[in-house]
This record gives sequence, structure tokens and C-alpha cells, in this order.
Amino acid sequence: MTQALDLLNLQSVSKSYGPVPVLHEIDLAIRDGEFLTVLGPSGSGKTTVLRLIGGLETVTSGTIKLDGQDISRMPINRRPFNTVFQDYALFPHMTVAGNIGYGLSIRHRPKAEIKRRVGEALDLVQLGKFAGRYPVQLSGGQRQRVALARALICQPRLILLDEPLAALDLELRRQMQEFLKSIQREIKTTFLFVTHDQEEAIGMADRICVMQAGRIRQLGTPHQLYYKPNCEFVARFFGDNNLVPGTLGATDGAFRAIETSLGTLLCSTQGQPDLSAAASGVSAFAVFRPEALRLAEASDGANRFSGVVTELAFGGSSTVAHIDAGGQKLRLRLPSRFEGSHLRHGETIDLAFAPGESHMVLS
Ligand SMILES: Nc1ncnc2c1ncn2[C@@H]1O[C@H](COP(=O)(O)OP(=O)(O)OP(=O)(O)O)[C@@H](O)[C@H]1O
Ligand SMILES: [Mg+2]
Repeated sequence: MTQALDLLNLQSVSKSYGPVPVLHEIDLAIRDGEFLTVLGPSGSGKTTVLRLIGGLETVTSGTIKLDGQDISRMPINRRPFNTVFQDYALFPHMTVAGNIGYGLSIRHRPKAEIKRRVGEALDLVQLGKFAGRYPVQLSGGQRQRVALARALICQPRLILLDEPLAALDLELRRQMQEFLKSIQREIKTTFLFVTHDQEEAIGMADRICVMQAGRIRQLGTPHQLYYKPNCEFVARFFGDNNLVPGTLGATDGAFRAIETSLGTLLCSTQGQPDLSAAASGVSAFAVFRPEALRLAEASDGANRFSGVVTELAFGGSSTVAHIDAGGQKLRLRLPSRFEGSHLRHGETIDLAFAPGESHMVLS
């Protein structure tokens, strides 16, 4: 497998507004052709990262490199990037075609070329019939597609999208997610997509960069973040993990014991050198997903405990049971058709999870 080249490199990038630091020495390599999503709670610095890359703000320290060249001080109009904003920022007095062709007309491209490329961009976003309409005559999703076509037509190296779907209702949002992803696959332009919606991030991204309070906490594939969060923040932010606090005990191959209120649990430390190396007695969390937890069978020895069903949430194909295991709150996800339909409120059940389907984070 060939390793994709880096398009953009942020090296030790910090940003302060006056005396207030909002980004702390960020290192981030964006690969050519990838769909990278920046995910984080409000105020974590996502938009700031985008604005620094786009050239709307300048770095306080550190460098931004494009193809290895420092562009930290390059003016915005020379950067080969385009931004799609949440509010679309279309020109209301221009038609769809006028809006899309705007970037080329200010570059004084010949009329025939503009016409041809606008036509291609309209086809790409499936708005061929709407060329003569004005933005006010379009739906939210259609406006969003015009904004995307306008960004794509200049053939940027990188498209920056700041929560572009936040204003759309759920159904349209899902459609646009698929649409954006399919366009990105087709044209292979690098997308940097900001969202605070983890489901959106999981569904669209090749890799996700999780931010908290101006720092990158984890960068990895959706799969890695889902199954192997590297810290308490990502484990809590990303999905509905069960986190059980405890103190580290003995190491047993790729597993390590952790003493908790549920007894001694054995969890995987595979790929987590900091956890294999941590001293015994150090505080940590056992982490396992609701779908890793299951009804115990007679053969289950390790990681076995009982709990009371306090709530049952039917969610279509799966049912999530809320469990109180001696004060420790847990979630158990079961297929509705099988075990899920047999559970009852107030029932005490025996539970277990496989050590190999768990891991740990330090607290
Ligand atoms: N122009 C500015 N002057 C001062 N502080 C700012 C400025 N812009 C952003 N900040 C601060 O920087 C921090 C990061 O803001 P940023 O807009 O990057 O967050 P975000 O992750 O995009 O949040 P949201 O999800 O709400 O859009 C916030 O604490 C914000 O108040
Ligand atoms: Mg923002």
C-alpha cells in the first residue's frame, strides 16, 4: 500500500486572541485526497483551525506548510483553498450560474470557459435545471449545493467546510452527507470538514481529529476512535462507552487487571504502551462499548457481575438497557429480536464482557 502524501502540515500552531490562547501547539498533517473531519465541542477551536488554514486569521506561532512550503503568511487570495460556510454566503442578486461562476469571472477567465465550467459544476451538484434561479428561489439543500459548486469550480487543493449542514433538517442533512461524500470520492479533492456531530463525523470521514479546549486529543479513523479512544475525553465524547473507574493491577500478557466496584476486571492494553507501562495503583477506567456487554453464559469466568435493569430504550433493531450494577451505571445494547425483547424493568441480570472487547484509559 502506498502512503498518501501530506498536502498540508500544521506544525506547533498556536493562536491567541489578545492575551487569550485558544489553540495550543497543534500538530496536524492532512493527507492529499482525504476527507478529514474536525470534531469537538463548542469553543474547542475547530473554526479557528479552519480560519488559520484558509488565511482568514494568522498564526500567533508555528507554521502551516502546503506541499512542504511555508504558507503561514501567504495572503488569503493566493491560497489554493475554498471555504463553504454554514450560512452559504451566496450573492442574493446573482443567479445560481452567476454565483457559481463568480470566482472565475473575477479571475477574468474567458466567457466560453466560464460557461463550460459552470455547466460542469452544475451537473456535478445536480442543479442543471436551476442555473437561472436566484438563491431566494431555492431550498436550503439546493443553496448548500450551489455554495459547494462555487467552491469546487476554482479547483482548489483543499475545501474547507465549517458545519455546512448544521442549518438543514435531519433528513436533508443525511442526504447531503451522502452527496458530499460521493462528490469527494469522485473528484478526490481534499476536504476538511468541521462538525460537532459525532454521527456525522463517523459516517463521512476517512479520519477524524478530535479537539478539546484548543488541543487535538486524538486523530484516527472512525473505527479507531470508536473502539480505541485514547483518553477519557474521547471515550466519553465519542459514543456511549461504559467507563468504570478503578486502579491498575497486574499485567497478564496483552491484558491488565483493574480493581473496580464491579470486582477485578481484565481489560486489553493492546496498542496502549502508556497503559502497559503505568504503575500498579494508578487510576484508570475500564472501557467497553454497550454492544460488548452481554448476558453472561455459564462458561463466562472473567469480567462477570450482576446488575438491575433500570430502563429499557427500544431503538428499532437494537434495545439499550440501562443497568445499575451496585451504583455503577452501565449501558447494554442487545438485538431487539433476540435477548432485547426478553428483558424486564427491575430484573436482576448476570452480565459479562470479553477482555478482548475492552480497553482502558488513564484518568
Ligand atoms: N475573534 C475572536 N476574538 C476572541 N476570541 C475568539 C475569537 N474567535 C474565537 N474566539 C474564541 O476562541 C475559542 C475557539 O473558538 P472557535 O470558534 O474556534 O470554536 P469552535 O470549536 O468552532 O466552536 P463552535 O462549535 O461553537 O463553532 C472560543 O473560546 C472563542 O470564544
Ligand atoms: Mg465553529
